[in-house]
Amino acid sequence: MTIPHILEAKGIRKLVCTTAYTFTLSELVSDVGLDIVLVGDSLGTEIHGYKNTVYVTLDDVIYHSKAVARANQNCFIVGDMPFLSTEVSVEETLKNAGRLILEGGVDAVKIEGGSKKASLISALVEAGIPVMGHLGLHPQKILQMGKYSVQGRQKEDKKRLVQQAKALEKAGIFSLVLECIPSSLARTITQSISIPTIGIGAGKYCDGQILVSTDIFGLRPQFKPKFVKIYADIHSVMKKALNDYKKEVMEEIFPDDEHSYK
Ligand code: KIV
Repeated sequence: MTIPHILEAKGIRKLVCTTAYTFTLSELVSDVGLDIVLVGDSLGTEIHGYKNTVYVTLDDVIYHSKAVARANQNCFIVGDMPFLSTEVSVEETLKNAGRLILEGGVDAVKIEGGSKKASLISALVEAGIPVMGHLGLHPQKILQMGKYSVQGRQKEDKKRLVQQAKALEKAGIFSLVLECIPSSLARTITQSISIPTIGIGAGKYCDGQILVSTDIFGLRPQFKPKFVKIYADIHSVMKKALNDYKKEVMEEIFPDDEHSYK
């Protein structure tokens, strides 16, 4: 997958995307042939047990990106720019995004933010760094918001989000994540720009969809927002496997002759 492939998909076919944080999962995603794999800052909650994504560092994303990139031959890999990594200055942002590309091995970076990020994004694109935008719910703003909620329900917010999408497109992003906004607004945004929109909790009119991989597998059953569809209850499968293993060791059923050396 390359950026031209992603751009060409708009209006022709849906883009299918997920997140990965490890070699094993990245290999699976690559084998299945999804279009884009995101090394999201969701790794903070999904892998490291943080209560939100703001504690994730650039080094964390680089560390996980290396494993994902090593395993993945087929997907376009995007690395998330974590909390504060784009806030200090254009120079600092260029350095941080450059590290994610060169050390992490990703093909592009994702930046949360609206029009205020446009000039920064232009500078990255000018330097040859592809950028994916991210509008709607900004999980990196959780300390200010207090809770995660659907964005863009008010008339002014709708107008602002459409304008922001256009500003980010003008700045040079190659695709735009729309998180937790009404489907009708996602449709308006999708029709207003010529780059693909990728929805998460943004309904069916987006040009593609992304779901966090651990949500697809139901690995955290206690966390299930409305937009998440669990495609396989891997949590229960893993729990059963561990219980079976525990029982068999305690009852001296495992290891048997088949699993022992003569
Ligand atoms: O970090 C992440 O997984 C994301 C997705 C929700 C798009 O940003």
